[in-house]
Amino acid sequence: QGAALADQFGRRVTYLRISVTEHCNFRCSYCSPEEGTPFFVRKDHLQAEEYDRLIRIFSGLGVRHIRFTGGEPLLHPRILSFVGFARRHGVGKISISTNGVLLGRRADALKQLGVNNLNVSLDSLDPEVFARVTRGGDVRRVLEGIDAAIRAKIPRIKLNVVLLRQDNGDSLPALLEYAIQRGVDIRFIEAMPLGEAGADARETQFLSAAEAQQVIEQHFGPLQPVIRPADNGPARLYQLPAVRSQVGFITPISDDFCATCNRVRLTATGRLVYCLGQDGGLELLPLIRGAASDGQIAEAITQGIWRDKPEHHHFVNDPNRSARVFMMRLGG
Ligand code: GTP
Ligand code: 5AD
Ligand code: SF4
Repeated sequence: QGAALADQFGRRVTYLRISVTEHCNFRCSYCSPEEGTPFFVRKDHLQAEEYDRLIRIFSGLGVRHIRFTGGEPLLHPRILSFVGFARRHGVGKISISTNGVLLGRRADALKQLGVNNLNVSLDSLDPEVFARVTRGGDVRRVLEGIDAAIRAKIPRIKLNVVLLRQDNGDSLPALLEYAIQRGVDIRFIEAMPLGEAGADARETQFLSAAEAQQVIEQHFGPLQPVIRPADNGPARLYQLPAVRSQVGFITPISDDFCATCNRVRLTATGRLVYCLGQDGGLELLPLIRGAASDGQIAEAITQGIWRDKPEHHHFVNDPNRSARVFMMRLGG
């Protein structure tokens, strides 16, 4: 299909991140308000056939990679159907970002349906610290989930560690050691000041990727930079000699990667969001539930991305505005 999505800064958009639910069975300090996600009305959320239609439209517009996120995407009862829609509409790369709690149960089915990439959050191996960061999570279940995904042979598994000076600043080598033992990749992520959880992440807990890299190199020796593939995500990638696992650093705060951004986001309520640091976007629900044809919806998406995808995220310099953007709504 000829149509392709692009913005006014010359960036092609080929990657769609779909948040299928705002709910999560964790309430991580840097992501979720303490009381969890607010009550929501189910009819305001995209229904299965609406996901099917939108995925078909985006695929027709040249989207080649879909990542399902949340909240926690494996909480959605129809998540396997959604993966199936992406496969059926010819999306070549299908990814999931999950907290891992329900992976034990789902890993085999996800692999069979064609999930190629799995990113699992793992901020600590210590049960107590993990429970504190996630406000009640059980790290053992997550580790079981990761093992199930490895056994299921999901091709690419990455661990996501959000850098938190007090909570895991001392445990970065242990986390890397765990990844190496399991033969999976690991990325260390600078905490972004989003949502109500922003203040802590911005102030007492902030740990830069540069500092994390220093700590790791003190333990493991120098990391060797890896040339990253063209459509890769925001991480700077490194390798250690004779080790399979790649080590990545994601630096939204110290060094932005917006120039190579190839992604847009879809919320569970059908809002197309052009950038993580943005709280506006294009409401697709009225179009889908109105009389708009596929062609008209495709046109609205194409024009919206061209006109409104910002050149940079702005949460770094504009904390008041970004404080309204919830990570759980945007799916990371
Ligand atoms: P792949 O590289 O395709 O595996 O995806 P990813 O690393 O983008 O996905 P993941 O869901 O694992 O997100 C990892 C971290 O990167 C999270 O902290 C995300 O919030 C962050 N991230 C992903 N995309 C963007 C983006 O466009 N802008 C910013 N600032 N951060 C992003
Ligand atoms: N800053 C950085 N990363 C975050 N994530 C969630 N909230 C934040 C934040 N404020 C990460 C999660 C998950 C990924 C999808 O987004 O740890 O791994
Ligand atoms: Fe849930 Fe992931 Fe947010 Fe933690 S970071 S509360 S696991 S959505």
